Amino acid sequence: MKFFIDTANLEEIAEAQALGVLDGVTTNPSLMAKEGITGADNILNHYKKICDIVEGDVSAEVIATDFEGMVKQGEELAALNPQIVVKLPMIADGVKACKYFSDKGIKTNVTLVFSVGQALLAAKAGATYVSPFLGRLDDISTDGLHLISEIRQVYDNYGFETQILSASVRHTMHVINCAKIGSDVMTGPLSSITGLLKHPLTDSGLAKFLEDYKKGN
Ligand code: G3P
Repeated sequence: MKFFIDTANLEEIAEAQALGVLDGVTTNPSLMAKEGITGADNILNHYKKICDIVEGDVSAEVIATDFEGMVKQGEELAALNPQIVVKLPMIADGVKACKYFSDKGIKTNVTLVFSVGQALLAAKAGATYVSPFLGRLDDISTDGLHLISEIRQVYDNYGFETQILSASVRHTMHVINCAKIGSDVMTGPLSSITGLLKHPLTDSGLAKFLEDYKKGN
């Protein structure tokens, strides 16, 4: 399973990249605003900085909600760097724009997906990635992981190549369960990746090894 980090924070992206396990980055307008990145030029420039840090795919979201606007913004984003994946909302014009970009060989990520039907539409439009929002479903007492498993089944039934990018991942158990279900990618905060390192038996075991080494030397 690929690990993407879901942030626009350059320090966190660099930390995950330095760990050697990072496959890409996802962002959205809220994450950009959280870092204080506003204005079209600053946002485009920030995407360039992200691409300089990581080697993999970087999802950059359009703001337009009409087909022409999405195409214009998506082409501008895709021209920044070959790593850019044009992120499009799951609305009718987003599906049309997804088909437009996939026909042109430009990578796409269809976002704000909350149902199997929406994921099926994204795959039929040739999306590179589909982003079901796991945590936001859990937030409303609906089983987000169940949606991921249903999308997995449907995609496998028909051999769709669209990669399931489990998004709105909040913690390590989401990561582990996504891997068990067969999600192609997960995107979450840095803590959902570094949290996987932690086990008290690792810490106590290492402390004992070092203590015993000191006794013998
Ligand atoms: O990848 C989607 C993500 O940014 C949404 O996460 O935690 O705001 O639901 P969250």
